[in-house]
Amino acid sequence: MTIPHDFELQRIAALPADRPMCMPGSFYTDPVRFEHECDTVLRRGWHCVGREDEVPNKGDYFELTLLNEPLLVVRGQDGAIRVLANVCQHRGMPLAEGAGNAKKFVCSYHAWTYRLDGSLLRASQMNNAGFDPKTCKLHQHRVHFWKGFIYVSLNAHAMPFQEPELDAVLANYETETFRLVHRDEEIWNCNWKCLVENFMEGYHLSVVHPITLHGYTPTQRARKLASGKDFTSYAANYPEGIPSRGAGAPGLSDEERNRSALFALFPTQVASQAASLLVSLYIFPLNVDQIRVKWTMSVYGDDLDDETIAQRIALWEEVNAEDRAKLERLQPTLKSAYAVSGPLAEDDYEGTIRDFVLWLAAQDRVDMSVGVA
Ligand code: FES
Ligand SMILES: [Fe+2]
Repeated sequence: MTIPHDFELQRIAALPADRPMCMPGSFYTDPVRFEHECDTVLRRGWHCVGREDEVPNKGDYFELTLLNEPLLVVRGQDGAIRVLANVCQHRGMPLAEGAGNAKKFVCSYHAWTYRLDGSLLRASQMNNAGFDPKTCKLHQHRVHFWKGFIYVSLNAHAMPFQEPELDAVLANYETETFRLVHRDEEIWNCNWKCLVENFMEGYHLSVVHPITLHGYTPTQRARKLASGKDFTSYAANYPEGIPSRGAGAPGLSDEERNRSALFALFPTQVASQAASLLVSLYIFPLNVDQIRVKWTMSVYGDDLDDETIAQRIALWEEVNAEDRAKLERLQPTLKSAYAVSGPLAEDDYEGTIRDFVLWLAAQDRVDMSVGVA
């Protein structure tokens, strides 16, 4: 496959830190590049698919599709969370839809029945000398758990999940204890990278969110935080003297209590960690100009009452709608021959986008060195 612009990505990534540029429009609109990304950066990566407490009880499950792979996230009778292929081993029917609780999964086509760990319990009237029900089971994908999030890799040979060195940013928030209060999903008509970049830059905050966010997280108080292998972060600092948004964990400093720490785990998770509120977006790319976006909201202990939680959900729905409208307006324009590689603002505002570009370029260099591309 010929990858358009691959040298262009390396050229942009090699620019000096004081003159960073973004990727040109075609990087977000070219189906060939998207296929290349699916084969490499996306298939190879670890993807966050949700929070552990989305499946709090034995038998709880939810399904999703990641890069054309139907997945079933399920808590087994042993209490362990597994990510199984949601694909019957008879003739391929999906076993579960949506979310719910089950004691076993019965295929809707010919009633093959699977245990929660994916092993086959029953397949009636199967007289086939080549079929061994004892070894028949649903494929189990690799999983990792970090701070209450569930990560999955579709690639059995991928590097193990490497926990991001985000302690300097997140250590005191007690992220793993946050309790799920809301989740939702939408289809957005934009490229997956546009949402990663949009969520991770503070430059647009006051412009795109003048009513919803500007009062709490104005652009001018955005500050770049730690970045490293597979992650970046920045702080959306609150103005001095605004009312508290919840005390959060006892170990938080005043500085931490008065900011939202936004972080990305590349390729597809972006999240906002505040003292009492944790919002995470999980990006499931569908094609070059469409994504499924799942988002969850979690809270710290009993910091926020029900009315405040309802207000926060409504606020984030509005914020997401504002971002979605911008990205869906942007996507067609990125096809223009004049959607050039434009200059990025300084580190505090758009340094995270440069981190993403450097990361993408590094992934492609791995492909070049091992001949994947
Ligand atoms: S496809 Fe599932 S039992 Fe036939
Ligand atoms: Fe935004």
